[in-house]
Amino acid sequence: VIPGGVDAHTHMSLPMGVTMSSDTFETGTRAAAWGGTTTIIDFANQSVGERVQEQLAVRHAEAAGQCAIDYAFHQVIGGVNEQSLLAMDELVAQEGITSFKMFMAYPGTLYSDDAQILRMMQQSAVNGGLIMMHAENGIAMDLLRQQAVERGHTDPVYHSLTRPPVLEAEAVHRAAALAHVAGVPVYIVHLSSGPALEQVALARDKGWNVFAETCPQYLFLDLSDLERPDFDGSKYVCSPPLRPRSHQEDLWRGLRTNDLQVVATDHCPFCWEQKELGRNDFRSIPNGVPGVEHRMELMYDGSVAKGRTSLNRWVEICSTTPAKMFGLYPRKGAIAPGSDADLVIFDPSRPRTISAATHHMNVDYSVYEGVEVAGRVDKVLLRGKVIVDGASYTGTVGDGSFLKRDLCQYLH
Ligand code: URP
Ligand code: ZN
Ligand code: ZN
Repeated sequence: VIPGGVDAHTHMSLPMGVTMSSDTFETGTRAAAWGGTTTIIDFANQSVGERVQEQLAVRHAEAAGQCAIDYAFHQVIGGVNEQSLLAMDELVAQEGITSFKMFMAYPGTLYSDDAQILRMMQQSAVNGGLIMMHAENGIAMDLLRQQAVERGHTDPVYHSLTRPPVLEAEAVHRAAALAHVAGVPVYIVHLSSGPALEQVALARDKGWNVFAETCPQYLFLDLSDLERPDFDGSKYVCSPPLRPRSHQEDLWRGLRTNDLQVVATDHCPFCWEQKELGRNDFRSIPNGVPGVEHRMELMYDGSVAKGRTSLNRWVEICSTTPAKMFGLYPRKGAIAPGSDADLVIFDPSRPRTISAATHHMNVDYSVYEGVEVAGRVDKVLLRGKVIVDGASYTGTVGDGSFLKRDLCQYLH
């Protein structure tokens, strides 16, 4: 019996270019419940020119009454200006939104330059919010992407080849340096590669509070998936991209040594016909992979069953630490008097084969098709109510409530 999973990084109904991620708050949180996750932290999204509070209100309206499990929001800050800096103070003080994602990638929409990042970090030193960083050098990558297409390199694998690990590592280093100058912690989202992890470890060895999450796709999938024929590789396009297989053991080591503290999914599903938008140009493939349903079972398999980590470490990286990192502890991430009775009864002796034919996410393929995991979620309770009972879903739409979060508790 373990505390319910806390997935600190999901994207339900995320607008992306001309399309939108295919799980709604209703379908995506129900799939999460099936997989033993009882809390998600999704994002409210502000791009350049938009007002933070308006975007947050949009997200609240989309999620309210729809969720099968409890949910919270991080705030994306795509446009740093006086208004968004003030909004950050307000969200921390009044809205229970205490973490803010910034982007070193995607120039023109979400990208912030170093001065903007430093300014936000300085503000987080005052209000206590935690800056989360999408750490990839978007300016350099955009040039490589354009050059690749000009040379006729339009297949999905070029998505990875034009986002080399060194440009992730460089961005991680820069984010760590800026956070150090501002005197604040920084949380690197979806870390994908050995060199990027090396930069986290170097910073941490200096005593800097650099935290990082990785995702199941970087532990279980690799560059060769992007090379699958007949445009099948497009299903595996996410950012940062999948890396050569050799990076996987680096990430597992990081999870063992606590240079990586959290595993979240970055769940961002797109159906096959949506992926086809990029058939002639990998830059138009919507970025993201589905996974919210499989994190607990994949991580049990990869860490505990494969002998890489202890049972306790599995719970720590999938539930307890994300709860502490994002101000939900001990309400979430623990089995204790006073905590919510979010419980998973996990059967370590009943393997399961993952398949799109049996999953509950609203997407018409699985990036883990045919993968066998060693154990499975048997029962799931949300605040004491049984919402998954073996092969039956016993919850109802709207069981989940919005969670106002405290400041990061990981260091205190
Ligand atoms: O490919 C990804 N990761 N899509 C979701 C957006 C993001 O940057 O996390
Ligand atoms: Zn990102
Ligand atoms: Zn994401």
